[in-house]
Amino acid sequence: MTAPPTRSRVLSGFRPTGPMHIGHLVGALENWVRLQESHECYFAICDWHALTSDYEDTGRLKAYVLEMATDWLAAGLDPEKCTLFVQSRVPEHAELHLLLSMIVPLPWLERVPTYKEQQQQVANRDLGNYGFLGYPVLQAADILVYRAELVPVGEDQLAHLELCREIARRFNALYGQVFPEPQALTTRTPRLPGTDGRKMSKSYGNAINLADDPERIRQKILTMVTDPARKRRTDPGNPDVCPVFDLHRAFSDKRTIEHVDVECRRAGIGCIDCKKELLGHLEPFLAPFQERRAAWLRQPGRVAEILAAGARKARVEAGATMSRVRAAMKID
Ligand code: TRP
Ligand code: SF4
Repeated sequence: MTAPPTRSRVLSGFRPTGPMHIGHLVGALENWVRLQESHECYFAICDWHALTSDYEDTGRLKAYVLEMATDWLAAGLDPEKCTLFVQSRVPEHAELHLLLSMIVPLPWLERVPTYKEQQQQVANRDLGNYGFLGYPVLQAADILVYRAELVPVGEDQLAHLELCREIARRFNALYGQVFPEPQALTTRTPRLPGTDGRKMSKSYGNAINLADDPERIRQKILTMVTDPARKRRTDPGNPDVCPVFDLHRAFSDKRTIEHVDVECRRAGIGCIDCKKELLGHLEPFLAPFQERRAAWLRQPGRVAEILAAGARKARVEAGATMSRVRAAMKID
């Protein structure tokens, strides 16, 4: 008799602070959809993390949570294969966060690069709150409460992951081995540019959202910035500095990419034609997603059930870890 091989455990999450965009789809969700086939995956909608910065106006949070779940399901996350849940429905995350907060030295948190950066960049909100400083401790609790081994994240999260490993080491050294040290799984998908040429981001207002209908996407692409030096149709362009070309690289086939690369440089193709070719690839790529999304939108009750079942499943695993944590700390 051979026991089934245990699949290594994966946890990742997103903050429901607004609509998701196509960069999330190709950067993260497609990767998660692959991982659910081979790993034991937990995917969390981190509403408490959203509150660390967006604590004042919580009016839209619930809608963002449901929209995020809908997008995840439309992308192909399958509740039969992975566990999808909302962080605040699994209070064990909060308990572990509290216990970890006892052993995390303040300087570890103050030196996280995103901490000072965000405080300076985000001018319209006061991020001097306790919860915001503790953001990475809560993130570590999200990961460690499942004793997850792998954490698929973007490069911007590597500092948080490193801190999580330090916290795990410190806990194990103080109370005995409970946590594996989780590894980051970074994908090499290049960042997509937004319609203004900067990195696609919900906070820049330059994103092509997963909720946008085909007409809206067409408008956004057709008015997107191109090589700024290419003013007239007869000017040769430079695809290397053109954000539209980056989208070709992500969505078009090899032939189209080569064709655009050559013809742009010798003014053989205009930007409008070039964008229409891009739409010719982007639209069919997104169509099946959009169809599934529309289908899930028609059954919000089912989405809520999936999240509730996911939280029940997550609580079993998180509860098992917490028993070990309490025993290790002798507070059981
Ligand atoms: N901080 C992550 C982000 O902004 C979101 C997140 C919260 C997360 N908890 C997590 C990611 C746990 C990975 C694992 O993208
Ligand atoms: Fe960019 Fe295409 Fe115009 Fe070249 S032809 S500048 S790649 S949009």
